[in-house]
Amino acid sequence: MTAASFSRLSTPLRIGRSTMRNRVLLAPMSVGYANRDGGATRAMAEHYGRRAQGGIGMVITENVAVNVAGRQMPLQPMLADPAAVPGFAAVASEIRRHGALAVMQIVHAGRYAGPWDVYEQARRLAPSAVAFPLTPGRVAMPAEMTLAEIEASVAAFANTAKLAQDAGFDGVELHAAQGFLISSFLSPRMNRRADRYGGDFAGRTRLLHEVLQAVRAAVAADFIVGLHLTSDELAAGGWTLADAVRLVGELGSAGLDFVMPIVATFETMRMPENDGLMGHPVFQHAQARAIKAATTLPVFTNGGISDPALIERILADEEADAVGLARPLFADPDWLEKVRDGSDIAVRRCGCETQLCLRTQLTGSQCQSWPEAVRARGFLGYGA
Ligand SMILES: Cc1cc2nc3c(=O)[nH]c(=O)nc-3n(C[C@H](O)[C@H](O)[C@H](O)COP(=O)(O)O)c2cc1C
Ligand code: SF4
Repeated sequence: MTAASFSRLSTPLRIGRSTMRNRVLLAPMSVGYANRDGGATRAMAEHYGRRAQGGIGMVITENVAVNVAGRQMPLQPMLADPAAVPGFAAVASEIRRHGALAVMQIVHAGRYAGPWDVYEQARRLAPSAVAFPLTPGRVAMPAEMTLAEIEASVAAFANTAKLAQDAGFDGVELHAAQGFLISSFLSPRMNRRADRYGGDFAGRTRLLHEVLQAVRAAVAADFIVGLHLTSDELAAGGWTLADAVRLVGELGSAGLDFVMPIVATFETMRMPENDGLMGHPVFQHAQARAIKAATTLPVFTNGGISDPALIERILADEEADAVGLARPLFADPDWLEKVRDGSDIAVRRCGCETQLCLRTQLTGSQCQSWPEAVRARGFLGYGA
């Protein structure tokens, strides 16, 4: 395929009342360049600004915690207080000045809250007290949230969304996947509650509906609100693709501007039947395609996709409206420019065996494919 053939990938896309200049976006990827208190740093601003400079249509940031109980990692960003807004404003400004839409992924980590040792004592918030393997060989027991804690979490999402808007972001993406708080309420494996937040489908999806409503009420009508949704928990007795299809059908377009479906949780990803999933090409596109068929909202697919010809095919067949790249853009922020120029050969490939980016999240993510000088600096920002 010649460079000129990448016309679909280069077509703008309407997201809510905004326009993405093309169909490629940075999928959320925790890099851990924030301060220990969750404040945004210059490294963070440059990291995201540099990905936007590569020409993509939207940057979705890594998951930003809505409060302390919802934070997972030591260098994870957190936006809970107006005092943190200026730091995040620099991040939004770097993304927007390079022409991409700036969307902040917002999360409550729920039962994955960290630092882990602290949460051996502190309440690790979850719908129900169901023990789970936090890491291989380490079992954790979360606490069943009270109604007051649920209410406070809903308010925390709305607060962070409003602060993201104050910081100049174009939108937020609600993280309802990977086993974090909202997705744990969706799952019958994790949610055994007998009150109105559990039981049947309506009960298990109630928290998500409430968060969505509270966030929408807190922000302007033209502020983008997206949903990062578990498409399939990939585990017996868990949230299924049929559930996700039903939910997006129910949600319609009320208050929501896009959906990004993602399979599995950290835990189900480690099950023998799902082992090595992230290393497979196109590993969650089948589920995204099913969700695309069930909604009129723009759907972003992602996961093991970096072949531009495949992206063209997915877009041509209307199996998704845009494609998210996480690791390929971490390895090479100029991926899009290079493939459009026809100089694919120059793309710095993602494909290491042991995924250095995953192993280094706690201290600031590194990529095996970066030149040595960039690794010595600690992040790939401007001038590289
Ligand atoms: C180091 C690392 C950190 C990630 N952090 C997040 C995150 O903060 N939020 C999220 O929704 N997904 C996260 N993901 C998942 C990615 O968004 C994406 O789904 C996954 O990497 C597959 O896409 P890719 O093949 O384009 O990398 C992360 C993935 C990696 C490798
Ligand atoms: S560290 Fe490895 S897996 Fe991660 S982005 Fe770089 S090449 Fe890809």
